[in-house]
Amino acid sequence: MPPDGPAVDMLDPVVQNYGDLRDPYSGYVAGREAGVVHEDHLNVKVFRAYRYTDVERILRDNVTFSARINGELMRPFLGETILEMDGSRHQQARGLIAHPFRPKVVASWEERLIRPTAHEVIDHFASRGSAELVREFAWQFPVRVFAKLLGVPLTDYEAWGRWAIDLERLSVDWDRGVAATGEVHDYFAPIIEARRAEPNGDFVSELVHAELEGERLPEGLIHGFIRLLIPAGQSTTYRLVGTLILAMLTHPEQLEAVRADRSLVPSAVDEALRWEAPVQFAAREANTDTEIAGVPIPKGSAVTSVLGSANRDETRYEDPDRFDITRAHQGHVAFGEGPHLCLGAHLARLEAQVALNVMLDRLPDIRLDARDTDPHWVGWAFRSPTTVPVVFTPN
Ligand code: HEM
Repeated sequence: MPPDGPAVDMLDPVVQNYGDLRDPYSGYVAGREAGVVHEDHLNVKVFRAYRYTDVERILRDNVTFSARINGELMRPFLGETILEMDGSRHQQARGLIAHPFRPKVVASWEERLIRPTAHEVIDHFASRGSAELVREFAWQFPVRVFAKLLGVPLTDYEAWGRWAIDLERLSVDWDRGVAATGEVHDYFAPIIEARRAEPNGDFVSELVHAELEGERLPEGLIHGFIRLLIPAGQSTTYRLVGTLILAMLTHPEQLEAVRADRSLVPSAVDEALRWEAPVQFAAREANTDTEIAGVPIPKGSAVTSVLGSANRDETRYEDPDRFDITRAHQGHVAFGEGPHLCLGAHLARLEAQVALNVMLDRLPDIRLDARDTDPHWVGWAFRSPTTVPVVFTPN
């Protein structure tokens, strides 16, 4: 046992999601009735917006609502990232960083990289006839996709996964966050150097050689972006994959429909994103005195958009708490909205779609293991299932 007590299981979703909260959604109903809920937090006024229309407006209006507040927490670890930038500086940096996320580039990874990786992960447990899919699939699959995208050798997957956790949980474990920051920097410095000298078409090469109006990304932003991608790309996607699979398995009639008609898979993915948004909040700061839902917001206040609440707004969605893949699609804000709309949305959707398709191809009679009677979702800032125990015919 380590000197500081029992080892924490960092893959435990309760640990990762900052708590064991099963149901934030009933509390969000009162939030939507009030429109905005306010509290003082360490001398800062914090306003939480719960309604879809308010969340959409806040995230679209980056003149009234600045993203710089994102830098306060992240900068010591991630350096400057696009998440904290506003205006033309954000636009320019995003234009450069968006290079490797162009739909054509992402689509080219599907057959070459994403699908084979899903098979490779399932190979590890397919002959066993049972698995716990949070740890054995939902976590392993995006770790491997991402590490391969960035050209990280197979043997370094474990370190990669640990960095993702340590960087995401930096607000609760500062020392581990700092250590991970240094390790990621040292790890990628020679890779960046090598790709600068000799691009090989991989993700880092794209990033290092991206050019917009004669400008290239400064070294610091390249490192910051890679550090941001580790938690942004890994931990979110793993939550989505776990949520999608558990949602399908707990709604067998909808699973049957998907089995019979795979063209329903993209709707299933977007309904999972709406229903259990992996990231529940987006933070902004009021640049001027303003109002939301009739509530005055003084300049300098922190304004939190509650994405998980907006996605269940009863004025937008009929019966919003129901998981329903046949719902006429009205979008959602699980990837944010406006200028900071998630850059990895296309990749995350594709990974989740491939995950479900390959799972159904490889394990056609997959079902929940009745011995575990309580798989469920937890989390406050992030949401994901605790476990997804399954059984199937071994192959
Ligand atoms: C299900 C998976 C994902 C979810 C739910 C998610 C969620 C989000 C949200 C809510 C934002 C906006 C934050 C804000 O406005 O303050 C965001 C931004 C971002 N995401 Fe994602 N994300 C996911 C996957 C990914 C992936 C796979 C990548 C990269 C490969 C990625 C990279 C980014 C980046 C770079 C930004 C910042 C964009 C900007 O500031 O302009 N995300 N994401």
